[in-house]
Amino acid sequence: MIMPVHQFSLPAEIDAIATLANEYGLLLVEDAACAIGSRYRDRHVGTRGQASCFSFHPRKVLTTGEGGVVVTNDGVLAERVRALRAHDLSTAGGEPTLVTWGFNYRMTEIHAAIGLAQMSKLESMLLRRRQLADQLQEELAGLAWFTRPAVPPHVTPNWQSYVGVVSPDVSRSQIIERLVASGIEARPPATAIHTMGPYREAARAVGGTFSVAETLDRCALALPLHPRMDEGDVTRVATELRHAGPA
Ligand SMILES: Cc1ncc(COP(=O)(O)O)c(C=O)c1O
Repeated sequence: MIMPVHQFSLPAEIDAIATLANEYGLLLVEDAACAIGSRYRDRHVGTRGQASCFSFHPRKVLTTGEGGVVVTNDGVLAERVRALRAHDLSTAGGEPTLVTWGFNYRMTEIHAAIGLAQMSKLESMLLRRRQLADQLQEELAGLAWFTRPAVPPHVTPNWQSYVGVVSPDVSRSQIIERLVASGIEARPPATAIHTMGPYREAARAVGGTFSVAETLDRCALALPLHPRMDEGDVTRVATELRHAGPA
């Protein structure tokens, strides 16, 4: 199985990955947790794999508080997921019976209702995020020590997060401290998983150095981006970031 991640909503190079999966006869499951509404060559992210997963965690563009969905075009797989979500409990033979080890992963009706209400606002939220991200990209141009997110022309992220990279010779923690002191909620966006808990052992077993992940762990920086921000807020974020780093 290959499980590409559309990280922070930026679509992975799914054409090349799907070709590889076909060539080796591997299942393709897209981790589209962050990427509802993102597009790759004008096609929705999460529509290439045999299955794809979207998260509705509060950090995501569309949230139900917690939870998410699996999407698939495979009717048999859809049935299996539905069954496993509810203990794999079957009533096919009359009496309810457990078929295999299932899970208790049902989304409540209340959370689903919140999601449906949000779904009707998805297009307008995406549009606003794109406008604000475009402005941030423009206002942060030319900052030598900050690399803005690079978006290839054939993809459209949903801009769940605006994540850039600070030069390794600049102190990210000092920049975050200065931004937070001026009321800008900047933060490290993610931690390299192989540096934490049980994954450390697993990474050692696999071998390798994961140097790209380690650099991004140290240097990536998430700036605030939210549809309720206005143009003035974006300018303030850009201005404070410029002031927080070296001249
Ligand atoms: C790339 C990615 N995959 C998976 C998840 C997990 O999603 P959930 O918390 O809804 O299980 C997240 C959540 O942050 C994520 O960012």
